[in-house]
Amino acid sequence: MLTSKKCLHLFILSVFTIVILNGCSNNHLKKEPVIPEYVFTYAENQAADYPSTQGAYKFAELVKKYTNGRIEIQVEPNAVLGNEKEIVEQLQFGGIDFTRASISIISDDIPQLNVLCMPYLYKNAQHKWAVLDGEIGQEFLDIFKEKNLIGLSWYDAGARNFYTIDKPIKSLEDISDMKIRVQDSSLTNDMIRILGGIPVNVEFKDVYSALETGAIDGAENNWPSYDSTEHYRIAQYYTVDEHICIPEVQLCSLPTWERLTSEDQKIIQKCAYESALYERKLWVQQEKQSMEKLKDSGVTVNQLTDEELLRFQNAVKPLYEQYCLEYMDLVTEIKNYSN
Ligand code: GCU
Repeated sequence: MLTSKKCLHLFILSVFTIVILNGCSNNHLKKEPVIPEYVFTYAENQAADYPSTQGAYKFAELVKKYTNGRIEIQVEPNAVLGNEKEIVEQLQFGGIDFTRASISIISDDIPQLNVLCMPYLYKNAQHKWAVLDGEIGQEFLDIFKEKNLIGLSWYDAGARNFYTIDKPIKSLEDISDMKIRVQDSSLTNDMIRILGGIPVNVEFKDVYSALETGAIDGAENNWPSYDSTEHYRIAQYYTVDEHICIPEVQLCSLPTWERLTSEDQKIIQKCAYESALYERKLWVQQEKQSMEKLKDSGVTVNQLTDEELLRFQNAVKPLYEQYCLEYMDLVTEIKNYSN
């Protein structure tokens, strides 16, 4: 005969068994959501549909996939986390984990970066990618470490051209005394000065109102930025001289990087590269689309004549001595790099 105490034990045991078995069978049916080990922030100053932001979303998606949801990356577009310079500073201290930045805004801190931003340096996009995807590009990705940053991959930002409100820039003389907004770097400021203009530094998000109020006569940027910011609504003259190609870099904060295992670091690097290839494809499509759209919507596009372009190129030559004296061999190597 079972005592009532034994009965009670048996009852409790069977209840436990049922609960455990039930739990196991449910696990087979529905997968428990993975709780991420890390949730990282990724700052982007462009709009959500811009190629570099789309690249960032792709990066986050790939990282989630390859880490089975252990690492989640939350992309914050539209400069909601701050302007580019502030973001990079935050990355240096680990306040923000990832970003994509135009390297000219870091070139006063890492002067060697100026080499990659020199006016009229690359013959064409193919030449630029041969340099950036080769050994030189890798060496440059490695130098960010001296500033507590990890350079992950190169994103495309095409070539920059001038756009102005009142009159087109058809010759060097036209730029004379024009107030042109440029990114806040010594090289870009000096470039405008040497061409005869007056450089003005305004935050990217404030350029529209600077154009609107007449604080500046014009600015310079690639086709997709000119389009997505709607600067073309005010500055309707676009002068194609492709004076500067500023590579964009995906960065990780060093303190964040050091929290990751080397396996996860490899995954991040792989995803960064894959997302860059994705972004570069989108870039080419977007550049064409913006160009066609804006030409149709009344923007006056002006191509510099070969003769005039040569005058612009000659005018900026002293900048090479000023900014690249220590790196002349590297400049020559880049210029002669065969694709
Ligand atoms: C490009 C670049 C931005 C940058 C901007 C600028 O659009 O993608 O990151 O902020 O130029 O001119 O400031």
